[in-house]
Amino acid sequence: MNQYKKLFEPITIRNMTLDNRLVMAPMGTNFGEQNGEMSFLHMNYYERRAKGGYGLLIVENACVKYPEGSNGTTQLRIDADNYIPRLYKLCETIHQYGTKIAIQLNHAGASAMESRIGIQPVSASATPNKAGGAIPHALTVEGIYSIADDYATAAKRHKPLVLMQ
Ligand SMILES: Cc1cc2nc3c(=O)[nH]c(=O)nc-3n(C[C@H](O)[C@H](O)[C@H](O)COP(=O)(O)O)c2cc1C
Repeated sequence: MNQYKKLFEPITIRNMTLDNRLVMAPMGTNFGEQNGEMSFLHMNYYERRAKGGYGLLIVENACVKYPEGSNGTTQLRIDADNYIPRLYKLCETIHQYGTKIAIQLNHAGASAMESRIGIQPVSASATPNKAGGAIPHALTVEGIYSIADDYATAAKRHKPLVLMQ
């Protein structure tokens, strides 16, 4: 334990101080509700990590554009304001333990599956994301900028939650 003592020291990143350097990487759980809302199962899962002492939790991949950018499962969504109340509730719960929280914004791109999302996936080019994978629709430059805007909108949606810290 002694050789890892730095891990348990606080660290300040800009104006946010973490109690320690233990950071949970984003890992998709598919614990979301059918509509992409954060579930109480989710909240319980993240609360247990906060209780365990993480300095920062990075909540799993949340979809910024549905269905196009979705993995088509019960993945979290952050593409509309109705997702805010439960995300807010999660932040309140996690902050009780002094743990900070962030969320990963995600567009599945070429890794989305037509059989799940019901439309042809899109990507920066018509190149499958793995050998033998389905060919995605190649976006125009405007289409790429439009997805960048979806990320920005989702980030703005999340900002009030971030400012809670
Ligand atoms: C079940 C599972 C789900 C994951 N989901 C995500 C995800 O939503 N976003 C992401 O960036 N990485 C995801 N990953 C990758 C992990 O965050 C991590 O980068 C990977 O497990 C390597 O971690 P390590 O270098 O500590 O072994 C996932 C990994 C696992 C095992």
